[in-house]
Amino acid sequence: MIELLPEQADDWWEVEALYDLCFAPGREALSSYRLRDDVPQVEGLSQVARDEQGILAGAIRFWPVMVGPHPALLLGPVAIHPTHQGEGLGGSLIRDSLAKAQETGWKRCMLVGDEPYYSRFGFTKLEGVEMPPPTNPNRVLGFDLCDGAWDGVRGQVNRWQAMERP
Ligand SMILES: CC(C)(COP(=O)(O)OP(=O)(O)OC[C@H]1O[C@@H](n2cnc3c(N)ncnc32)[C@H](O)[C@@H]1OP(=O)(O)O)[C@@H](O)C(=O)NCCC(=O)NCCS
Repeated sequence: MIELLPEQADDWWEVEALYDLCFAPGREALSSYRLRDDVPQVEGLSQVARDEQGILAGAIRFWPVMVGPHPALLLGPVAIHPTHQGEGLGGSLIRDSLAKAQETGWKRCMLVGDEPYYSRFGFTKLEGVEMPPPTNPNRVLGFDLCDGAWDGVRGQVNRWQAMERP
């Protein structure tokens, strides 16, 4: 039995260790991390998955970003411990978090990732949305949290600026 819980401040280093295990060394050199530096993650949307003994099985994080003048959620990193991969947990974390994002009024979500995996949740390639280089544009994917949320939304993805959201 796996439980999904909002990430708490005390979870931070445990989640970092999981990401270090699941991703190639140097993950923090990725351009997407420059959008996260010194910006608080989105409280309540970042989640951890724990088994009945409290052991961390997976985690998903979200940061707010700006696409031109438009607020968006940046999904990721998401990772599942190797002993739990392929059990549907990644899908559960993604679907549950997207539902919460919708409930809390966010309009659009984006990520940099594998289209063959994320297309099953409804993510599609974004045209004209430019992540800081070097990013493969084919891996820049978006999801509408309300109808037409990405219509006409183009431009550079920048760090979050404090403003009324979303
Ligand atoms: C990618 C990841 C989050 C998926 O979580 P998961 O719980 O293992 O995945 P699920 O059980 O929800 O889904 C499994 C399905 O996704 C597929 N899948 C997993 N990773 C995939 C990828 N990179 N590309 C395409 N399909 C992928 C599996 O083949 C499987 O397909 P099936 O349903 O047809 O059998 C997890 O495998 C992981 O942590 N990987 C290492 C870190 C990582 O790559 N994170 C994503 C960064 S973009």
